[in-house]
Amino acid sequence: MTSKMWGGRFGAGPTAIMEEINTSVGFDQRLAKQDVRGSRAHCAMLVAQGIISKEDGEAIQGGLTRIEKDISAGAFVFKRSLEDVHMNIESRLADLIGAPAGRLHTARSRNDQVATDFRMWVRAAIDTLDVEIKKLQAVLIDKAQAEAATIMPGFTHLQAAQPVTFGHHLLAYVEMFGRDRGRFMDARRRLNECPLGAGAIAGTSFPVNRALTAEKLDFDRPMANSMDAVSDRDFALEFLAAASILAVHMSRIAEEMVIWASAQFGFIKFTDAFSTGSSMMPQKRNPDAAELVRAKAGRIFGNLFGLLTVMKGLPLTYSKDMQEDKEAVFATFDTLELCLAAMTGMVKDIKPDAARMKASASAGFTTATDIADWVTQNLNVPFRESHHITGRIVKMAEGKGCELAELTLEDMQLVEPRITQDIFRVLTPEASAASRTSFGGTAPANVTAQVKAARERFLGEKP
Ligand code: ARG
Repeated sequence: MTSKMWGGRFGAGPTAIMEEINTSVGFDQRLAKQDVRGSRAHCAMLVAQGIISKEDGEAIQGGLTRIEKDISAGAFVFKRSLEDVHMNIESRLADLIGAPAGRLHTARSRNDQVATDFRMWVRAAIDTLDVEIKKLQAVLIDKAQAEAATIMPGFTHLQAAQPVTFGHHLLAYVEMFGRDRGRFMDARRRLNECPLGAGAIAGTSFPVNRALTAEKLDFDRPMANSMDAVSDRDFALEFLAAASILAVHMSRIAEEMVIWASAQFGFIKFTDAFSTGSSMMPQKRNPDAAELVRAKAGRIFGNLFGLLTVMKGLPLTYSKDMQEDKEAVFATFDTLELCLAAMTGMVKDIKPDAARMKASASAGFTTATDIADWVTQNLNVPFRESHHITGRIVKMAEGKGCELAELTLEDMQLVEPRITQDIFRVLTPEASAASRTSFGGTAPANVTAQVKAARERFLGEKP
């Protein structure tokens, strides 16, 4: 297909085409602050090691200060013709201070430079996400506290299984998001080594002090192998993998919200803040935000697979392919921030319908296990046998079209004569949930205790 636009844009020939495919400054300008910081540390190290003069070092630092100000003010002019953020900044430095600028790139390559910048960026992104995931946990914990005794059906196979408390259900996500934070932090620990000083591939003949630059940039240590330092993108992959799992978790709670908000379930309502009407059907209140959080997992997985595919089979060390690493990570971070904000807002926003949840909790013979437990505990019957007995009782209720609690004692005694009136004590969904007091169980008392524990474990609150 011929396109006038492209034809026009590339009218200048190969140079224009090359610029278009090669340029990364359109997106890697997001590394500008890290790039300046990395250059400052590198420059200070060069001076400390006597590789460049103190005067040149001061001139460079002065120029970088002005550049930093411009970047912060959004006044720095990035030029596509200068390809990437690194060359834009170096070229501007040359405009500002002249000859000494040429000394900054001593013992450095864009290969170790970009790896360093990007690691610092991902590290900061992880720290930001940690705070944002923690906020989501905090609203979930607050909700769980408020709904510690709210009874709802728990599902397996999306079939009513056993009564649970809404608070318990919400705390399940608090655990997931806690592991997500852990995964990001694990990745952070591994990525926190400094590539600077690896040069293009082989290291450098200048007497650099890699430990010094590593320390100045808050890395734990320099990377041990120069070839690994310039060619590794595990840290970006790990970020995307942790992001993907987080996205899975957000999509699961989003999906639950969609189900709960349906007219058929009616467990929760969203206010206007997080739902929209339909242009045609006046009765509708659509959980758009939840649906979009559910959907955006797709982009995030796509970004992970995109970069895995870029990296797969790449020979050591740096190849320009690796320039394609950044957009996936930037886009993933932006998407996560938005989804986390939306999810935090939605959790705060949801209004549970406790009556409806409770009514639904007893439908579908959800206290059948409680009958079996009662029979085992009171009649000293092995559980496998109690399970059979209960099966027959359930069948009876099914035949009569009633709930388990609506059967008479005589009905039950037809199946097992030793059953007494006491069994009715365990047949309500509240009693069922309240009896689940084993560690990690759903009883309201447990939820209240777990809320406290979660505040300490995840929010750092003192007991
Ligand atoms: N813009 C490049 C990137 O993001 C910087 C590294 C360029 N290195 C090179 N040898 N051409 O990957």
